[in-house]
Amino acid sequence: MDDVVIVGGGVIGLAAAWRSLGRGLRVTIADPEPATKASHVAAGMLTPVSELTYGEEALLRLGLASRDRYPAFVAELEEISGQVTGFRDDGILQVALDSDDLAVLDELRRFQESLGIAAEALTGRECRRLEPMLAPAVRGGLLAPADGSIDPRRLTAALLAAVERLGGVLVRERATEVLVEDGRATGVRLESGETLHAAQVVLAAGPWSQDVKGVPPGVLPPVRPVKGQVVRLRSATPFLRRCVRGLVRGSSVYLVPRDDGELVVGATQEEMGFDTTVTAGGLWELLRDARELLPGITELAFTEVSAGLRPGSPDNAPVLGPSALPGLLLATGHFRNGVLLAPVTGDVMAETLATGAAPEIARPFSPGRF
Ligand code: GLY
Repeated sequence: MDDVVIVGGGVIGLAAAWRSLGRGLRVTIADPEPATKASHVAAGMLTPVSELTYGEEALLRLGLASRDRYPAFVAELEEISGQVTGFRDDGILQVALDSDDLAVLDELRRFQESLGIAAEALTGRECRRLEPMLAPAVRGGLLAPADGSIDPRRLTAALLAAVERLGGVLVRERATEVLVEDGRATGVRLESGETLHAAQVVLAAGPWSQDVKGVPPGVLPPVRPVKGQVVRLRSATPFLRRCVRGLVRGSSVYLVPRDDGELVVGATQEEMGFDTTVTAGGLWELLRDARELLPGITELAFTEVSAGLRPGSPDNAPVLGPSALPGLLLATGHFRNGVLLAPVTGDVMAETLATGAAPEIARPFSPGRF
C-alpha cells in the first residue's frame, strides 16, 4: 500500500507528487495521458501581478509566494531531472492600444500600488524602446519587472522525470472511483477494475475531478471547465524580448516568447463545458488583437492551435487541502493560474500529506470555504 495516490498527472498532480516524494512519501499517480490537457496548452505566463483582479488579494499573496518560489523550484527540478524548463523572470510588459485601454492599465497600477506593489508606468515610446516590434499606435504600458514565464511542456516533462527518478509510480489508467471504507478514503478504483490502496488520496484532475465517483455529495465543490484557445507561431530568432500582455479596445491578448523562437499567443476564455473545438472565430480574435499590437507577427510561421480546459472553482481560486472526507485531499480549481501556482501547490500538498495540517498560506483556499 502506498502513502499517497494522486488522481491526475497535470502540472498540479505532478508538482504535488514530486514534492511529496521529496518528503519521503511513497506516491502513485493515476492518469491515462499525463501532461496532455491544460498543462500542454498553457502558455506559461507567471503573472500574479499583471493578471491582478479586484477582490483577489488572497490569491495575489498565493501567486506572489509561488512566483517567488519558482527560481529555487526550477533550479532543483532541472538538477534532478537533467532537463531545462525555459524559466524566465525578466518581467512582463502590459500595453494599451487606445486611451480607454490606458485608463484600465492606470486603474490597475493604482490598485497594485495600494497593495504595496511597485508598478512602472511607461509611455508608448518607452514601451517601444523595450519592445521594438510594438505598433506605433500603442499608447502606453505598465512593466511588472518580477513576473516571468516558463514553458509548461518542458516543465511537466521535467516533473515526470523527477517523479520517476525519486521512485514515484505512474499508472497510465483513469481512476474512476474513490474507495471509501468506514467513512475514510482508502484508495481508488481504475478503469480496468483494479484498485490502488493508499493512506491518502489527492484529487488533482482539474475539471475531470467531478467525474470521479465515490466522493460523497458536498465534498468536492463544483469545478467547471473554462475553455482557452491558444495559437503557436515561430520565427528563427525570438520575436519579443519578454512577455507582452495587451489590451486592444477592451479585449485581452498575451504573447509569450521562448528562446527557441516559439511565440505563444493566448487565450480565449469561454464557458462551453467540455468542448475543446478550435474555432475560426477564436483563432481570428487572437491573431487580430496580436496583429494590432505587433503588426510583424503576420510574417511568422504558424505551427499550432489548440484548446485546453482550465478548472474553475465557484470563486475561481484553487481548492487546496483536506476535504470533509477523511483521507481525501483536493488540489484543483486553479483556473487561469495552474502553472503559476504549481510550486506553492506542490509544497502545500506535500506538507499537508506529511503532517496532516495545511500550512497557513493555504488556509483561505481550503475546500471548507464553500
Ligand atoms: N493565465 C493565462 C490563461 O489562463 O489564459
